[in-house]
Amino acid sequence: MAATFPTMEPIILEARRRLTQGAWDYLVGGTESETTLRQNRAGWDRLAFKPRVLVNVSKVDATTTLLGHRLRIPVILAPVGGLAGMTSRGALAAVEAAMEFGTVPVVSSAAGHELEAVAEVAPDWPGLYQLYIRGDRDWEHEMIERIRAARYSALTITVDTAVGSLRERPMISIGAATPMALARAGQAPPPRYGAMVTWESIDRYREDARMPLLVKGIQTAEDAALAVEHGASVVWVSNHGGRQLDHARGSADALPEIVAAVAGRAEIVVDGGIHRGTDVLKALALGANAVAIGRLQGWGLAAGGKDGLVRVLEILEEEILSAMALLGITAIGELGPQYVCPTIPVTPAHEMSSWPNIPGGRIL
Ligand code: LAC
Repeated sequence: MAATFPTMEPIILEARRRLTQGAWDYLVGGTESETTLRQNRAGWDRLAFKPRVLVNVSKVDATTTLLGHRLRIPVILAPVGGLAGMTSRGALAAVEAAMEFGTVPVVSSAAGHELEAVAEVAPDWPGLYQLYIRGDRDWEHEMIERIRAARYSALTITVDTAVGSLRERPMISIGAATPMALARAGQAPPPRYGAMVTWESIDRYREDARMPLLVKGIQTAEDAALAVEHGASVVWVSNHGGRQLDHARGSADALPEIVAAVAGRAEIVVDGGIHRGTDVLKALALGANAVAIGRLQGWGLAAGGKDGLVRVLEILEEEILSAMALLGITAIGELGPQYVCPTIPVTPAHEMSSWPNIPGGRIL
């Protein structure tokens, strides 16, 4: 089945065919004007490559590591909420795909499965867990104990979701409730624990979890420096795929100042609008250690379950290996800022603008 998808376009079209309007809108959409979402794409489009030639590229190796885990390509699976609504086995299929392909899954606490059930799919695994704070200190401690007992290897705290945002596509298509409407209806749990998470909380989670901490949702040099000071092993540059604050910078625009602020004291992951192997290589040239994919993951799973996602990763690998050879590099460690420069984009950025063969250009 996986081999029947030659490129991403048929995967995206199959995902659209299989998903309900609500699930599609939830996966694809961003906040309000979707400017952040488009800035993510535009940021990568504003970089051009400066290839070197006459290098022996008969052997090209795209493997790397993150937190000591081997990655077949510098791409990990971002935590994605609602995966259970995209394919029958949801996050279980995502973990299986990661294991089969050779990368690291970050399991979302909003994925719709018990964390123990996901861990059981792959007993000896480099699984990372992503935790949203939904309770008091006892709740936090109990969750961290469960994460440890299920043998997750690292803890990701998402820090760009103090409150929910206004994602208008599912609000219009399926009448999805806004965070404010939930609060008015008395359905938001008071007090709002997510809104009370601070740097002090990060210290508490790190001490309690005794495992590497990834701080996901950093958009400035100032916060990157604080994340390092508070013991983050990974600074995760992200604006939540344009799903939280509207009118933020694209991740590619935030990345350089964050790389400078971190100054090698932590590893760096970046996500947001990563659609192709060339985007992965641009991110690494700017100083990231790995990128994470969210929507690509959802589309792969929706189109073909575990096999669909493995195929997405294979396509990224094909693109990465091809572009590395054409850039004149044979190993990931050779990438650096000398391989990229600013340019003027040739296409208006949107969620499908990386795929010129989508009939009509957009899918709603
Ligand atoms: C989202 C939350 C679940 O972006 O992370 O939908």
